[in-house]
Amino acid sequence: MNGQREQWGSKWGFVLAAAGSAIGLGNIWRFPWLVGQHGGAAFVLVYIAIVVLIGLPVMMCELSVGRAAQKAPYLAFSSVGANPAWNVIGLMGIITGGFLVLSYYNVVGGWTLKYMYESLAGLMTIAGNGESGQFFGEFISHKTEVVTYTLLFMIFVMLIVAGGVGGGIERACKIMMPALFVILCILIGRSMTLPGAEAGVKFYLEPDFTKLTTKSFLDALGQAFFSLTLGLGAMMTYGSYLKKEENLPSAAVYACGLDTGLALLAGLAIFPAVFAMGFEPGAGVGLTFITLPGVFAKMPYGMIFSFLFFLLLFFAAITSAMSLLEAAVAFAMERFLMRRKDAVLVMGIIIILLGIPSALSLSGEPKIFAPWAGKMVDFFDFVDEFCNNFMLPLGSFLLCIFVGWTWLSPACKEVTNDGKLSFSWLNMWVWCVRVIAPAGIVVIFANAMGWL
Ligand code: TRP
Repeated sequence: MNGQREQWGSKWGFVLAAAGSAIGLGNIWRFPWLVGQHGGAAFVLVYIAIVVLIGLPVMMCELSVGRAAQKAPYLAFSSVGANPAWNVIGLMGIITGGFLVLSYYNVVGGWTLKYMYESLAGLMTIAGNGESGQFFGEFISHKTEVVTYTLLFMIFVMLIVAGGVGGGIERACKIMMPALFVILCILIGRSMTLPGAEAGVKFYLEPDFTKLTTKSFLDALGQAFFSLTLGLGAMMTYGSYLKKEENLPSAAVYACGLDTGLALLAGLAIFPAVFAMGFEPGAGVGLTFITLPGVFAKMPYGMIFSFLFFLLLFFAAITSAMSLLEAAVAFAMERFLMRRKDAVLVMGIIIILLGIPSALSLSGEPKIFAPWAGKMVDFFDFVDEFCNNFMLPLGSFLLCIFVGWTWLSPACKEVTNDGKLSFSWLNMWVWCVRVIAPAGIVVIFANAMGWL
């Protein structure tokens, strides 16, 4: 890249872009789906604890390395003076995030497009008859349709990322994120007043710890990293565009808070409706897409709300997908000295090709052996679990070891802006980074694998 590195316009530009990256399908689609499968409120509590003790500290590590390095993840470590071997964290992140996560993320992004269209085309009648589950099942097994929507979604992402950091990404997030919040609040209002909604509120807010398994902890951990956009260097890339004088810890707290808040709200929109309509909370990947149309069908002007909701979910997905693609693009620009537009094109095409097996697998094939489950699973589930429950925790673990044990004093300087900034929990942060987060990751992982 020539000349000065691109930068966010302001701290809020950064917070909104970070929130834009963090708030995505993870919050509205993946979080409720996992909560449903792991029995509700108890899982929510575990999730919150993990965000505070592991997520936030790791996010600050990523931002500090990124800002100190002023480089994308691949070269970040060596440019803050570390042994170049650490660059492998960055490389792992680019491969996992830019390629694997994004390749299946696009598939779900494509669903949002399909649902925008269907909202206007008769989804309300179908959902009103209680047939939204069947409708979803038929859609995802329709191969050409799923692939077409996946492709369309990815093209949108590529167009925005080609526009650059300030102009493309930041501007898009500033408009889309607040709108998403407003529509979610309206939905919660409707969902909670449906007859029979109390059972859902209870499921979501009254913990029953007997429902937790060791896998619940691993899923919560993976979800925290996924939702907060950690472990792959995406936040490192964003941190590298953060100005030196900004307050980094406060930006991180805001980003984590907004992200977690939004996930919690999404659950509040979904679970009351699931129970009111007699659906199973453990329904799996389709939960959001099956339940919410049912809520809309019961609202005046449901068609419009449904369209708006999926439009906003599409925005949320786009802003997240952008951060994933940006990591790969920034890497190609720095490593291969490509121009932004060329990098977008090359990376985009690779990712689209990788996404095809995920898109197809929802109709049953291809399947692949998942060692952690001990059985063959859909390619889609394989990529999802491999990335979130394995690669993201691994990347975050290595990052904690790097920052906590080899780069601690520069890191403290970076988060306090050379000592100009003080915050009371600096010591707590240091503890989390050195001990609590890495140990937590190892214990949760080993436990779920049955090693402990
Ligand atoms: N956090 C996003 C979501 O919740 C997904 C995402 C975007 C992501 N960028 C990432 C996940 C980087 C891991 C790493 O939908």
